[in-house]
Amino acid sequence: MEIKKVVVIGSGTMGSGIAAQLCNANVPVTLLDLKTEISTKAKERIYKSRPPLLIDKSKIDNIKVGNINDDFSIVSEADWIVEAVVERIDIKHNIYEKIFKKRKIGSIVSSNTSSIPIKVLSEKLSNEEKKDFCITHFFNPVRYMDLLEIVKNENTDLKKVNSLKNFCEQNLGKGTIICNDTPGFLGNRIGVYAMQVAMTEAFKMKLSIEEADSIFGRPMGIPKTGVFGLYDLIGIDLMADVLRSFIKELPETDEFQIVAKEIPLVKKLIETGYTGRKGKGGFYRMSKVDNKKILEAINLETGEYSPSKKIDIKSDKVNLSDLINRKDKYGEYAWSVISKIIKYASSLVPGITDKFNDIDEAMRLGFNWSRGPFEMLKEIGVKNFFEKEGSVKNNNFLENLSKTKNENFYGERQQYTQIETLGKIKPKALKLDKNESADIYRFKDFNIVEFKTKANALDYNSMDCLKKATDKPLIIINESMQFSAGVNLTYTMEFANKNDFKSIEKFVKYFQETCKHLKYSEHPVVSAPSGLALGGGFEVLAQSNFVASHTNIVVGLVETIVGLVPAGGGCKEMLWRWSQTNEAKNDPEYAPLKVFEIIGYAKTASSPVEAEPLKYLLPENKKIMSRNSLLSASKEILHNNKNFKPPEECKFNLPGKTLKDKMIKSLEKLYNDKIILDHGMEVGKELANILSGGDTSLDKTLSEDDFFKLELDSFMKLIETKETQDRIKHTLSTGKPLVN
Ligand code: NAI
Repeated sequence: MEIKKVVVIGSGTMGSGIAAQLCNANVPVTLLDLKTEISTKAKERIYKSRPPLLIDKSKIDNIKVGNINDDFSIVSEADWIVEAVVERIDIKHNIYEKIFKKRKIGSIVSSNTSSIPIKVLSEKLSNEEKKDFCITHFFNPVRYMDLLEIVKNENTDLKKVNSLKNFCEQNLGKGTIICNDTPGFLGNRIGVYAMQVAMTEAFKMKLSIEEADSIFGRPMGIPKTGVFGLYDLIGIDLMADVLRSFIKELPETDEFQIVAKEIPLVKKLIETGYTGRKGKGGFYRMSKVDNKKILEAINLETGEYSPSKKIDIKSDKVNLSDLINRKDKYGEYAWSVISKIIKYASSLVPGITDKFNDIDEAMRLGFNWSRGPFEMLKEIGVKNFFEKEGSVKNNNFLENLSKTKNENFYGERQQYTQIETLGKIKPKALKLDKNESADIYRFKDFNIVEFKTKANALDYNSMDCLKKATDKPLIIINESMQFSAGVNLTYTMEFANKNDFKSIEKFVKYFQETCKHLKYSEHPVVSAPSGLALGGGFEVLAQSNFVASHTNIVVGLVETIVGLVPAGGGCKEMLWRWSQTNEAKNDPEYAPLKVFEIIGYAKTASSPVEAEPLKYLLPENKKIMSRNSLLSASKEILHNNKNFKPPEECKFNLPGKTLKDKMIKSLEKLYNDKIILDHGMEVGKELANILSGGDTSLDKTLSEDDFFKLELDSFMKLIETKETQDRIKHTLSTGKPLVN
């Protein structure tokens, strides 16, 4: 079955998200709603969405709109019809009746329901129709959430479901997991259970919400929003609806029932409009004191708010064994939560899916956990788990494991996909070297470097791994959310606080040396970014020989925001790219002025399509919808470049002072218009100095090393100022820029 045309019915949050993703995949799609006005509005929403649902806004007209009365005949042309109307069974049944009357024989029909079983959805369909019906459960926002659950039951034609799965994997870029028709399906059943356990245990153990969030977060390999933060983000009222649906659908004996009970404080929050971030606040709220915004946290016992406290658990790494063995309340809480999640998830095998690995993958893809329940168990160790837990009842999976004590129970990862992913090959590859910040793997005839710090911020160790790994063709890729958010500013500030600027200089030089090495070593280097590739992260990819980019990236040079300039070759590389244009051939000021604007304003792009006009990415860079395919795309690049020769070194002829003066004039205008302040002016002047070539003139030729020197000098000048340090500290503590 080939999917060439799709109709989506229901143009709300999910329908419009699904339509946008089909548009991203260049698949013609029609979006139908009760009235054309509604679907037209949805199209406008797609266009304006932030973060953008479209990779390329100019393609918006690949989405056609209409209404279910006048335009329903389009259903007869569709290969796939997705229903995403409100969660009401009567409405859904009516729509199916209409669809199955009109649809083309052989087409596939799916519902995006979040909670209604396939058995109920399809109860009015004939046996033949049931074969072609399944649930496609996308997550919001569709472009950015990697997980898609396809739910089938005994009536579904598995061949058809598999071809839909392939389409969604390859064309829509989703990690697609097929599961059984059980309440809440897969990801939500376990994800919501985990949240409830984390919440109820926090109440029981009298932990503050900040304490609970600081454990049920990064230390457990879970996003740092934690549990109470996530509750606020999703909406406390919406979570209550979800729980009610689980309570109704699940048998009374299900462990979920115990943690889903209504909590008086939660009820009160909803009743008083404290429904989370969309309401007056939730477990956390922003409050104004003396005209200053401060974050407050609720006391779970009294319901009163007080300024939120930062919790330092004195461990920055994810180490589950250490965490659960801590002899304090944090260790106790972590063990209680983790052991319950492991027990619950394993009790659902094989009911929910017979492949237990799929549960882990769903938690990674849908909830951004870095490891799922079974990987947690593997990491803790089977023997250790049972020593701590004792015997387990009513759980075939764990009972068997307690008998075999097989520490190697896990088997292969990512069995849900045929694609050769990083996750699949890592266990087979040889770990050549590792340090705190990165790992080097050797697989067949190439190396892989995987960064592994928080947001993959780069430091000396990350550079060390990159440098060491260039003895073979190299792929820089990772499994976490970000390729790299840039240089580790905390690390840089630690030196600055001690006035140890020599160490900073040493690090920047090593960064430059490594990037140069990536570009000119005899073997090709491929960067395969997904998520953030900012600042230093961008400099690594820009100085790789090839790029295979995921379509969900945010890329750019943002150093000026923290009062710095790109110093790992970012200025140089951008200047070189812009110097290759026709305009630059006739006008020596063209490229520097363009780059001055791009870096000066710290412009970012949120897709490869946006990145190309800025030259953050180049037309020859590969753009890939499926994150899982980044590794195989990178391998293919290596394969096609067996006779790779490193590029020739770049050379620059720049005007020097005359251009610098021109740039400073434009800064003065911004200063007079109060768009930038004193330090903004200083940062701009340094950037102007670099991009005009410093003390040079058009008849002099500058080498890449000359540029590295210009970048380094300006970087060092700026990092030594109090104002840049203030900017960095402010951004590190608030996540926001400081204008000074
Ligand atoms: P929504 O309320 O944003 O949109 C529903 C749309 O359906 C509205 O535009 C409405 O006008 C339209 N509609 C209602 N009756 C219709 C009919 N007879 N014919 C055509 N259109 C009709 O809802 P949302 O959030 O997009 O949810 C849609 C489905 O996706 C629901 O089944 C929901 O449970 C499910 N879902 C929602 C998720 C979310 O995060 N919002 C996540 C996953 C699934």
